[in-house]
Amino acid sequence: ETSGEKIRVGFSQAMSNDDWRRSMNNSMLLQASLNPNVELIIRDANYDVEKQIDQLEELIKDSLDIIIVSPIQSKPITSVVEKALELGIPVLVVDRKTEDQKYTAYLGADNIEVGRNAAKEIISSNSNDTIRIVEIKGLSGSSPAEERSIGFNQIINKYNNANVVANIEGDWEKESIQKKLKVILSDNANINYVFAHNDRMALGAWEVARDLGQEKKINIIGVDGLTGFNGGIQAVEDSKLTATVLYPTGGAEAIKLALRILNKESVPKNNILSTTIINEVNAEIMKNQFDRINEQQGNIQQQITEISDLEERYYAQSNFLKIAMTL
Ligand code: FRU
Repeated sequence: ETSGEKIRVGFSQAMSNDDWRRSMNNSMLLQASLNPNVELIIRDANYDVEKQIDQLEELIKDSLDIIIVSPIQSKPITSVVEKALELGIPVLVVDRKTEDQKYTAYLGADNIEVGRNAAKEIISSNSNDTIRIVEIKGLSGSSPAEERSIGFNQIINKYNNANVVANIEGDWEKESIQKKLKVILSDNANINYVFAHNDRMALGAWEVARDLGQEKKINIIGVDGLTGFNGGIQAVEDSKLTATVLYPTGGAEAIKLALRILNKESVPKNNILSTTIINEVNAEIMKNQFDRINEQQGNIQQQITEISDLEERYYAQSNFLKIAMTL
């Protein structure tokens, strides 16, 4: 990079229209804005795999300095990521993985551990009784869905009294699971636990249980643990969810890591964000902590806006002075 030239970071986001991904985009934009040399270009693939491939092709054609991608599904995105690498553009894969290890670096929480955390929460809160579970999966072919399921079943399979009695193939959105869950719960299956791979589907499951009058007897566990009105932490506080497993977006970390890569620093291949269980014991604490962070982010954002307003006024005034002096 020659000095004064912008560093252009391109991000292909699987889709931008849910709270988790909006929060990820916001923290990326905020982190990028702290560095005036960085231009962050976010493209929304809107859950369309073909569109995401085209988008990545375009980012390659536009010679971005680095590409960040959250793949909708692993397999279809793998070869275009390899192509970028071959052309000398580093690729940082976030949240969902591609099929092989051919990327510059990966950043995200360990989704096998996410699944294990959910299973441990179930086992520890209900050690002797019979545990009958419905597992609601995320979009098949996306790595968090595969890995959360692996981790979850690893732990559950160790206990004779715990069984996954039904699986539902979801797509991360609640509409995909509600009819099927209704059939299962209406069938007198004595379900006492639901593990849904994210909070949106978990809250969809809660609606179904409530409509059937079973919300008191079924314990629902989700993943994400966002703050805010619609978030998983609030749902735990409202006793809709028994627990949620924190899945941090890593937005700020992604930008920091991208800049380190561009700076030719050596970075770990796999960069693992930490996860933890959020239940009634710590929901309030977690909420307060995240609210504080959000407040601080808001303050930073405001200061950045004020600084750029000041800069504009300064330039306007000095231009005015220059003109005045030539008169
Ligand atoms: C957001 C989301 C999250 C989930 C993640 C998995 O689009 O569905 O709810 O944890 O993607 O990649």
